[in-house]
Amino acid sequence: MAKSAAELRSARYFEPDDFRSFGHRSRMAQMGYTGEEYRGKPVIAIINTWSDLNQCHAHFKQRVDDVKRGILQAGGFPVELPALSLSESKVKPTTMLYRNFLAMETEELIRSHPVDGAVLMGGCDKTTPGLILGATSAGVPAIYLPAGPMLRGNWHGKVLGSGSDAFKYWDERRAGNISAEDWNEMEVGIARSYGHCMTMGTASTMTALADVLGLTLPGTSSIPAADANHIRMASAAGRRVVDMVWEDLTPGKIQTEAAYRNVIVVAMAMGCSTNAVIHIIAMARRAGHAISLDDFDAMSRKVPVLANVRPSGDTYLMEDFYYAGGLLGLMTRLAPFLDLSQINASGRTWAQSLAEAKVYNEDVIRPLDKPIYEEGALAVLRGNLAPNGCVMKPSAAASHLLRHIGPALVFDNYAALKESIDRDDLDVTPDHVLVLRNAGPLGGPGMPEWGMLPIPKKLVKQGVRDMVRISDARMSGTSYGACILHVSPESYIGGPLSLVETGDMISVDVPSRTINLDVPEEELARRRAVQAIPKKRYERGYGWMFSQHIRQADEGCDFDFLETTFGRPVAEPDI
Ligand code: FES
Ligand code: MG
Repeated sequence: MAKSAAELRSARYFEPDDFRSFGHRSRMAQMGYTGEEYRGKPVIAIINTWSDLNQCHAHFKQRVDDVKRGILQAGGFPVELPALSLSESKVKPTTMLYRNFLAMETEELIRSHPVDGAVLMGGCDKTTPGLILGATSAGVPAIYLPAGPMLRGNWHGKVLGSGSDAFKYWDERRAGNISAEDWNEMEVGIARSYGHCMTMGTASTMTALADVLGLTLPGTSSIPAADANHIRMASAAGRRVVDMVWEDLTPGKIQTEAAYRNVIVVAMAMGCSTNAVIHIIAMARRAGHAISLDDFDAMSRKVPVLANVRPSGDTYLMEDFYYAGGLLGLMTRLAPFLDLSQINASGRTWAQSLAEAKVYNEDVIRPLDKPIYEEGALAVLRGNLAPNGCVMKPSAAASHLLRHIGPALVFDNYAALKESIDRDDLDVTPDHVLVLRNAGPLGGPGMPEWGMLPIPKKLVKQGVRDMVRISDARMSGTSYGACILHVSPESYIGGPLSLVETGDMISVDVPSRTINLDVPEEELARRRAVQAIPKKRYERGYGWMFSQHIRQADEGCDFDFLETTFGRPVAEPDI
C-alpha cells in the first residue's frame, strides 16, 4: 500500500484535535454517521450527473446505490455529490457551451470537500470529457463509470439507430416518402431504454476512449445500460476505487502520452465521432501532453476502421458490438498499433487485461485484413480556408465528393440557413458547396451540432443525399455525409470562412488533405478591409466568461485558465 490512513486527504478534515475538525465531525454526526463509519477510511465522492431531464442517465438514480454498496464492501465511505447533468438532446444552445462548466464543477467539488477518491458517473456526450477534465485537474484517484449504451431501436421490425436513423428518415419525410404516422411511430421506437445513444456517436466514442485511456474497469464501456452486467460493474467500480486510493493511483499516473496514443488508435478503428478530436485534445492538454490534430490525421492513415457500427458501418449497433466481444475484442485486433504496457484503473497492464479477450463475431469486429475502410476514420484538411485545420469523416461521406470543386452557397448563420434551405426557388445544384458560418466556439456560441447542414429540400426530392458542406460548427457523432467541420480559426473572429461569398469556387481534396477558396489574395484583402465586427454574444453571466476564455477548436475548446500551463497550480484549501 502506498498510503496510510493518517495520510488520507480526508484525515486532514476529520482527525485533528482542533476547533475546525470538531465542526466537521459533529456535522457528520448530525447526518447520523458515527466516526467508525468514515474515520480512517477512504471517503469516495460519487460525482453523479443524474437529472430528471437526462434520459441517458435515468438509471443513475439506482446505479449510485450499487456503487455505494461496492465502496462500503471494500472499506470505503461513499458520499454522493451531484453535478451538472448535460442532457445532449435538451440543453440549448448546445451542451458544448457547458462542458467546461461541468469540468470546473467536478474539479472544485473534489478539491473543496473531504474526499480521497472519486467515481465519475457519466456517458451522455459531453459528460464524459467534462468529468474527466475536472478529475484530471483535481488529481485524486478516480474511476469512470460509463452509463452504457441503450438497447437497439425498433420500428416495424427494422432496427433503428440513435441520431443516424432520425436524420435519414427525416430526409425521407421531407421528400414525401414516409407518412406522418410512420414518423410518429418511430418517435416512440427509436429510444427504448435508459443509456446513451447506441450508434458510434459521441457518447459511445467517448466512453470507449475513457476506457482505453485507462479510467474505467477495462472493457466496461461496452456493457449495455440495461444489462445486469452493468449493475455488477457499478459495484465492482465502487470496490476498486477504494483500493486505488490506498495505491495512490491518480489520473496523472494513468494518463500518459502513450495512453493517449492508444486512445487515438482505437478512435480510428471505431470510426469515431468527430467530436472526439476536440475532447481528446483538451483532455491530453490537461494531462500535460501536446496531442494535436496532426496526430489524429497521421493515425487515420495507418489504422483501418474495424468496428462495423453505424454510422460508419451499415448494420450494427453498440449492443451487437458488446456481444461480438466489445472494446476488449477490438483492442486484441489492434495489438500491433497499441502500447500494451500501459496500465488501466484495474492496476494491471493492457497486456494482462486483454489476455482472455476474444472476438465472437468477425463481421461486427473485423480482422485487420477485412476492414470496413482501409483508412479514413478522420481526415484533417488545411488550406487558405482553414489555416489551422478542419476535420471530416471520409468513411461516412459519399466517395465521389472526396475530390470536389464547386461554387459556394453561403449562409451567414443558422437562422438564415433554416429560413431558406427548404425553399423551392433556392438557386442550388448538387455541385454546390453549402457553407455555414458564425457557428464556431464564439460565433455559435459553443459550436452547436449544425455541421450536417440539411440537403436543400428541392434536391432531396431529386434523390440527392450527400453534398459537400463546410462550417465552423460541430456535428453529432451520429451524423454522416461530406461534412467539413471545426474550421479554424472560426468566422466570428474573422477567420477566412467569414470572407466567402456565394458563387466563389471552393476546392476540396481529401486524399491530399487540402481545402481552398479560389479567390485572389487581393480580393480577400479588399473584403477583409470592409468587414463589420460582429455584435457581442454575451455581455454578462457564464456566456461572457465563456467568450473571454474559450480556445479554438483545434486547441480543444478548453478555457485558457483551466489549462495546466496557465499559472501556478491551484493549492489545496486551508481547512
Ligand atoms: Fe445522450 Fe445521445 S442524447 S448520448
Ligand atoms: Mg451526440
